[in-house]
Amino acid sequence: MRLDKFLATMKYGSRKEVKQFIKKGCVTVNGEIIRSDRYQVNEMEDQVQFEGRVIHYQTEYYYILHKPAGVISATVDNYDETVMDLLADEDFREDLFPVGRLDKDTEGLLVLTNDGQLAHQLLSPKKHVEKEYIATVSGIMTQRDIEQFATGLTIDKNEQCLPAKLTILAVDEEHETTQIALILHEGKYHQVKRMVAAVGKKVTYLKRIRMGQLRLDNSLALGEYRMLTADEIRLLQQIT
Ligand code: URA
Repeated sequence: MRLDKFLATMKYGSRKEVKQFIKKGCVTVNGEIIRSDRYQVNEMEDQVQFEGRVIHYQTEYYYILHKPAGVISATVDNYDETVMDLLADEDFREDLFPVGRLDKDTEGLLVLTNDGQLAHQLLSPKKHVEKEYIATVSGIMTQRDIEQFATGLTIDKNEQCLPAKLTILAVDEEHETTQIALILHEGKYHQVKRMVAAVGKKVTYLKRIRMGQLRLDNSLALGEYRMLTADEIRLLQQIT
């Protein structure tokens, strides 16, 4: 790959800017200053440094975002802020996208990546990747609801859901609300809200806390994000 393309891909500037940096002598390859933007680097073997700092070649990017309510899980939207708007300029890349969707009013774990293959696997209806949610429900959830969710609910008259694990975390009898956890193996449109509605109650707060084996990082405040670690990427890739 040409040295200027390598640097631009690694977001050291536009193609024009990185050509200037190369000319100025900011860039070394295997310890030698290279002033030609056409110089061919082997991105897997050569050590490229920018102002003395080693550039680790990376083509796939993975972020975990604690999505706040009020932003859209999309790359662009004409009216609302999107999850991409939460990225700092230095992390933004045109090819990043959110893996799946959370409703505008849903919070929680969202993975952003440019790895289309992993996203496809995570979202494939055949893979049944687990998604875990916690929710506040208006109404009292019961043992009967747990059983119905476990057998496989039918929502909106004819849409059949896979068995789901509903856990009642707390019941507030006075205010008639219930805290629940729910594990799904699929991702139908508004699924949690529609399942809860199918048993006559209403979700008033919803948060995703796990996708596959990847858990939401509690140290991330709403709207914050960070790169996934290599171990977390491996966890995400464990799809059977
Ligand atoms: N189920 C919903 O109803 N909404 C979400 O955002 C995710 C799952």
